Amino acid sequence: MKGPGLRRLVLFLVCCWGFFAADAAHIHAQQRAGRTKPVPLIMSRIGSSVLFPVYGNVYPKGFYYVPVNIGQPPKPYFLDLDTGSDLTWVQCDAPCISCTQAYHPPYRPSDNLVKCKDPLCAALHSSGPHRCEDPDQCDYEVEYADGGSSLGVLVKESVHLNLTDGNRISPQVSIGCGYDQMPGLSNHYLDGVLGLGRGKISIVSQLQSHGLVKNVVGHCLSSRGGGYLFFGDSLYDPAHVTWTPMSSEYTNHYSPGYADLFLGDRTPASRDQLVIFDSGSSYSYLKAQPYQALVSWLKKELSGRSLREAAEDQTLPLCWKGKRPFKSLLEVKKYFKSFALSFVDGWRAKTKFEFTPESYLIISLKGNVCLGVLNGTEVGVDNIIGDISMQDKMVIYDNNKQVIGWMPANCDRVPKSRSVKM
Ligand SMILES: *[C@@H]1O[C@H](CO)[C@@H](O)[C@H](O)[C@H]1NC(C)=O
Ligand SMILES: *[C@@H]1O[C@H](CO)[C@@H](O)[C@H](O)[C@H]1NC(C)=O
Repeated sequence: MKGPGLRRLVLFLVCCWGFFAADAAHIHAQQRAGRTKPVPLIMSRIGSSVLFPVYGNVYPKGFYYVPVNIGQPPKPYFLDLDTGSDLTWVQCDAPCISCTQAYHPPYRPSDNLVKCKDPLCAALHSSGPHRCEDPDQCDYEVEYADGGSSLGVLVKESVHLNLTDGNRISPQVSIGCGYDQMPGLSNHYLDGVLGLGRGKISIVSQLQSHGLVKNVVGHCLSSRGGGYLFFGDSLYDPAHVTWTPMSSEYTNHYSPGYADLFLGDRTPASRDQLVIFDSGSSYSYLKAQPYQALVSWLKKELSGRSLREAAEDQTLPLCWKGKRPFKSLLEVKKYFKSFALSFVDGWRAKTKFEFTPESYLIISLKGNVCLGVLNGTEVGVDNIIGDISMQDKMVIYDNNKQVIGWMPANCDRVPKSRSVKM
């Protein structure tokens, strides 16, 4: 693979047993003194949202992260924003067998292990065998599409969250304490991953079951870098959002199901492509056939123009250079057209997701313009709408209504809550 880009799309989530017994023993020892704390009575704030600032960019950084305060006393962690996986985990001194480069010292667990029989532990292993090698702990292993992985145990810990109504909450949630990590291709500083997928273990699903916010995740990533992330449904007017139902067939990821690819023509260049939305992927991906169609179309559109292919620029597989180095996408927009994926859903109207030049191109550090849509077949993934194509849009995953929505937005400015202050 030429350029990096694919970060956090879970391929496997399996229970680990047998050869991790030695590591488990240490964790087990800590648990003996553990006891369960009473669950505090929490007032329902379901009308409010949790809001986080987001840092990072598509290029050159290639990832986005969110600062989250975890533990008692609270300590800060920078977690990779990932709607492509469910589990939130932090690098953990349990002790750490293999921790990767991090922004902050690893999390230290206290007597707070989640038991193997816990429903959340069972939910975590719903796709594979769930065996309780040690009833006092819940082992997990996640592996991401970029080859990175984390292995650890679930712990119950407080996370400190700011609500848009001005209040702060510190609910107890189950997160992973990762004591054995392998870096992926996109090897970058990482304290952990904020898993925002559709599974029950997702932090937002847990917050909803505590009666705190609705199981709705939204992000707004700015093309200038940064942006914001929210949980709950009080920061947008649903009437202004383009909605499409989530696939009931393909439930592992946020997917509206199948789409046709339109490249300027009225007849689709490619049909019935399964598409997923994944904030853990900085670029977008198309499978070999639609990718080939897109590349041919772009080359045809550019023939006779002043852009030339720049094979020497290794930033991404396909780059073009102008007479002079480009500084901004504004200078090249005029050479490129928009294209679209049109979702074939159960509803009467088809829903279009448009790719404007800004949402599929980058300007490399060498001043060339490069295609930010990559060949998914080459890396073994389906069609992915990644961060590059979600920039300057609010993208909303409503797990209660089972819909995905998007609308144009200024992601540089955090919106005011629409809900009444409590
Ligand atoms: C939450 O609010 C406090 C007080 O306004 C602020 O210091 C803190 O940085 C906020 N945390 C996040 C994650 O936004
Ligand atoms: C995409 O990747 C597949 C598998 O590696 C390859 O066969 C195909 O030629 C690639 N398509 C393009 C246009 O590069």
